[in-house]
Amino acid sequence: MKVLIVGSGGREHALAWKISQSPLLTKLYCAPGNAGIQRLAECVGLPADDVSSLVSFAEEQRIDLTVVGPEHPLILGLADALRARGLPVYGPSAAAAQLEGSKIFTDELLARHGISRKRFAAFSDPDAAIAFAREFGAPLVVKADGEALGKGVKVCSSVSEAEGFIRRCMVDREFGAAGERVVIEECLAGQECSIKAFTDGTTVLPMVPSQDHKRIGEGDTGDNTGGMGCYSPVPAVDDSLFSSIVERFLVPTVSAMKAEGIPYSGTLYGGMILTEAGPEILEYNCRFGDPETQVVLPRLDSDLLEVLLATAEGRLGEVQVQWSNRAAVVVVIASGGYPGPYEKGKRITGLEEAARVEGVEVFHAGTTEVNGEVYTAGGRVLGVTAVGAGFREARERAYEACLRIHFDDMYYRRDIGWRALEG
Ligand code: GLY
Repeated sequence: MKVLIVGSGGREHALAWKISQSPLLTKLYCAPGNAGIQRLAECVGLPADDVSSLVSFAEEQRIDLTVVGPEHPLILGLADALRARGLPVYGPSAAAAQLEGSKIFTDELLARHGISRKRFAAFSDPDAAIAFAREFGAPLVVKADGEALGKGVKVCSSVSEAEGFIRRCMVDREFGAAGERVVIEECLAGQECSIKAFTDGTTVLPMVPSQDHKRIGEGDTGDNTGGMGCYSPVPAVDDSLFSSIVERFLVPTVSAMKAEGIPYSGTLYGGMILTEAGPEILEYNCRFGDPETQVVLPRLDSDLLEVLLATAEGRLGEVQVQWSNRAAVVVVIASGGYPGPYEKGKRITGLEEAARVEGVEVFHAGTTEVNGEVYTAGGRVLGVTAVGAGFREARERAYEACLRIHFDDMYYRRDIGWRALEG
């Protein structure tokens, strides 16, 4: 099979790594890829959101399956455009990707089908939103409805903070059209975790749970990032809680989408919060997580390509997915300054030495290769992943590998998995 992966981050490197282990694979392409992916795939210089060029490429090369990493091309309709040409694709249609692309769509769907009890109200008028926030009181969460590059959600501890964020979204239009409407939600407290599933719109096959560290600083402090590290399994999610999350949230959401004539096919990613009253959904994403994929896929014993193809062809009910009991930990190495401004172009050394640590894979995120040397090219640069018999072994291996890597001003958190260490 000829496979095209769309994207250029650590998630796509992990997808390329796992797909390249499949006996079904004959040729792997990635658009645009990075310095790590290019060791496994032929990288094609097409941006991930250039829908028409990607479709032309897939058609010319007779790609048997396109696997879309990031949400943006899905929300733009890449999966629809490929399907319209008869090209198999792993990822939801633009209409189904609204589960990530529109917070209001999702809150209303989940309420309509009795899946979530979270209190919320949607607004297209800033004065009405501010009046509601004043009446509701703090704490509360304000979300720009649309895609806002991860910056459209604010947990507000005071009403004035909420008012300020509503104005930034709806009056100043800081996030463009994404902030034309906002949703105000009740603020829920508890540990967060990610529960994802493969689904073809009917069958739902869950992946192992993971827990991400979103903040830049140790102790989960400081600014939000795309994710600074992650681990799986998650001690706070035992088998019974895991099954109940899948049965109470993911399965009914897939049924609800089907019932509404918007079948959902691809990865359904539930961003969950474990409150004292039980699990609740914070948000859905329409893709694999990053860096969650870097710990979920190393625990997959089955042939990923077979599962992705069965999903794309609507016959997921025919396949079995096996997971190992081993633990996986990823530590993200970032450029100093991230998630604020940072410099690029720093030469990275020690990658091969790091990869020699038992159980370790170094997934590239923001990297580029020049004359055989690897340089930094993004905020999140590498995801140093390790598997081990248990969490502590995996974590020790990941940190041992991090010690062997060097570039100027590199930064990583030393406390990834602190909750699991305590647990
Ligand atoms: N790590 C969070 C995400 O992929 O959205």
